[in-house]
Amino acid sequence: MLVVVHSNYEAMSKKAAEIVASRIRRKPNLVLGLATGSTPLGLYKELIRLHKNDGLDFSKVVTFNLDEYVGLAPEHDQSYHYFMWENLFKHINVNPSNIHVPQGMFGDLKISPFETDPKIEQFCTWYEDEIKKYGGVDIQILGIGGNGHIAFNEPGSSIGSRTRIKTLTEKTVKDNARFFKSKDEVPRYAITMGIGTIMESKELLLLANSAGKADAVKSAVEGSITAMCPASVLQLHRKAILVADKEAASKLASEFVTYG
Ligand code: GLP
Repeated sequence: MLVVVHSNYEAMSKKAAEIVASRIRRKPNLVLGLATGSTPLGLYKELIRLHKNDGLDFSKVVTFNLDEYVGLAPEHDQSYHYFMWENLFKHINVNPSNIHVPQGMFGDLKISPFETDPKIEQFCTWYEDEIKKYGGVDIQILGIGGNGHIAFNEPGSSIGSRTRIKTLTEKTVKDNARFFKSKDEVPRYAITMGIGTIMESKELLLLANSAGKADAVKSAVEGSITAMCPASVLQLHRKAILVADKEAASKLASEFVTYG
């Protein structure tokens, strides 16, 4: 994994945006994998700036988001649909018909660990097929959870997993409660691309900032490859880049690191 460390969040966000912009300039119909959470906000801000000031053109770009909470309508202010429109889509010239964010509303669901509800199964198969139809994701942006999760693939997720429903861990519910009025309002399930789906992306761009991510980053980059730290699987990818600020990278052995 190429590890690039910047002195602060703004600098790492600019670097990440530079990488994404260069891929769009090289391939205008880029298939761009997008992530939510607070980490990529700086990257999105910079992409918007590049669109407005430098004419970065998203008109042919196709997007696929990693995940969505189950049970939140697209207009709910904590849904990932809403997040993406507010923080990126409405500010750039992406064609709405090229946008893909997993569905979160399915009506009444029978949730069982042994059998997936057919409505969910049908959606997940469609999502996987849709990614294939566009030739696969060219570059996937990723954040990392404090427990090493990527998208909503929590520790213990199968390394070969595909898009499916996942139960969120208590740690993730607690971490994400800061965005909701109370912890009880945080959905318990999400639809997420699988680790196998993510690993098929041609390039991976993992972002991490702040000291709260330092342990997860160390396990992901220097730890053993294990389902207990889903991000560690990135060590098996041909082209994975981690762009971090110095706090998130503070526990890495410095000889593995490139300073940006
Ligand atoms: C969420 C998302 C992940 C994200 C992670 C970290 O649970 N499903 O895609 O990477 O949490 O979020 P943040 O960037 O806010 O720390």
